[in-house]
Amino acid sequence: MALSPYFTPSPDGDHAFTVEAPKIKFGHGSLGEVGGDAKALGVTRAALFCDPKIAELPAAETVQAGLKAAGVDVALYTDMEIEPTDRSFKAAADFARDGGFDGYISLGGGSTMDTAKAANLYASYPDDFLAYVNAPIGAAKPVPGPLAPHIACPTTFGTASECTGIAIFDLLEMEAKTGIANARLRPSLGVLDPGVLESLPAPVIAANGFDVFSHAFESLTARPYSQRPRPEDPTRRPLSQGANPYSDLACKEAIRLVGDHLVRAVNDPQPEDYEALMFAGMLAGIGFGNAGCHVPHAMSYAVAGLVKDYIPEGWATNAPMVPHGISVIVNAPAVFRFIGAACPERHLLGAKAMGADVSGVAPEEAGAALAERIVDMMRQTGMPNGLQGVGYDESDIDDLVAKSAPQRRLLDNAPQAIHEAELRTLFRDAMRYW
Ligand SMILES: NC(=O)c1ccc[n+]([C@@H]2O[C@H](COP(=O)([O-])OP(=O)(O)OC[C@H]3O[C@@H](n4cnc5c(N)ncnc54)[C@H](O)[C@@H]3O)[C@@H](O)[C@H]2O)c1
Ligand SMILES: [Fe+2]
Repeated sequence: MALSPYFTPSPDGDHAFTVEAPKIKFGHGSLGEVGGDAKALGVTRAALFCDPKIAELPAAETVQAGLKAAGVDVALYTDMEIEPTDRSFKAAADFARDGGFDGYISLGGGSTMDTAKAANLYASYPDDFLAYVNAPIGAAKPVPGPLAPHIACPTTFGTASECTGIAIFDLLEMEAKTGIANARLRPSLGVLDPGVLESLPAPVIAANGFDVFSHAFESLTARPYSQRPRPEDPTRRPLSQGANPYSDLACKEAIRLVGDHLVRAVNDPQPEDYEALMFAGMLAGIGFGNAGCHVPHAMSYAVAGLVKDYIPEGWATNAPMVPHGISVIVNAPAVFRFIGAACPERHLLGAKAMGADVSGVAPEEAGAALAERIVDMMRQTGMPNGLQGVGYDESDIDDLVAKSAPQRRLLDNAPQAIHEAELRTLFRDAMRYW
């Protein structure tokens, strides 16, 4: 393949990749246009989803005023959970079903945007809650038809939920994070206004920034699409199709922007940092939406799902939880050390883009060099010290392995085989970094 030796064809591997592009509006002041956007999509009565903290921000007033000025009737819903659960998804679906809405606006982080996606789905096509949930936990039933228009306006920059057809939640009875994944869940429009990030607490900026980096770097180092077995039905390529030249483009730039801006954005933020990080988050979303994440994200679902008593500072909650970006980055350095040899040139590229001096670093040290740089950045941004920093110890490793081993969609997207034995090594290495 002329574009990169990483995509050298293999006999049984796929010969093509697809490009999914979300519809996005990006720029200062774009939240003031949401009313017109909703009207253009034919919305006459909108449910506006905000968490209670966001409902108090000027951005919520901007959006509500814009909707009203455009003649769109609006009902505000704030009764959601940060890191949503099946309980909060069901409550939001009840609200949506009873409200007679023909459109949805979400203004908030991933928790809010995902809640609106689920509410839209269950109000449009009511079914058993587990019907649409990813297999093997749910039945992964395809969404029967198009959903009502949904304009997603992120107030964080990590999840890229505005770009994806994914809604993630905690299934309480199984203590597991899982989700609903279907292209029809992708919002009709994402509206990214960087000014809205100015009120984000520093720990949330750090967690989001590492989530962006992880989306981009996992997509960059995912198994190349040309090594993934060719699908029997070419119309059914998986969402996680593996690294490809299109996702590479977006991911490389996302990593560079995080490397240039994250530490300052946490410690001494300047307006240009918000713009850079919001754009990076969008690029990484395009990257992982077309390539897919792998091991750090697969491990993160166990880290978040099995939380004991860790209560993060900076999040509007008193309940124990490991925020998503933290649950990912505590695993990442251990993973890079382990898989660096599978694609050393990409690990070197990542380390350099994140600001490491890689002159003289041999290919076999590439994973360790990136891990060292990420650990430095975790320390400079107040992240917890590995799994111990979020309340785990060696006695939890069996449970962490058992909960992450079934995440085959993600694990099979890694550049090398990862099964229970490898996960055990990785969780052990991720316990503590300094
Ligand atoms: N759908 C997807 O594709 C996808 C991808 C990755 C993660 N997720 C999910 O997204 C969720 C995490 O979302 P998140 O990290 O965006 O944050 P969040 O929605 O959980 O919010 C985190 C905290 O920041 C506050 N906050 C948000 N924006 C703010 C602002 N501008 N100013 C002040 N405070 C603000 C919130 O009130 C909350 O307390 C998790 O449930 C995760 O699993 C979804
Ligand atoms: Fe993520």
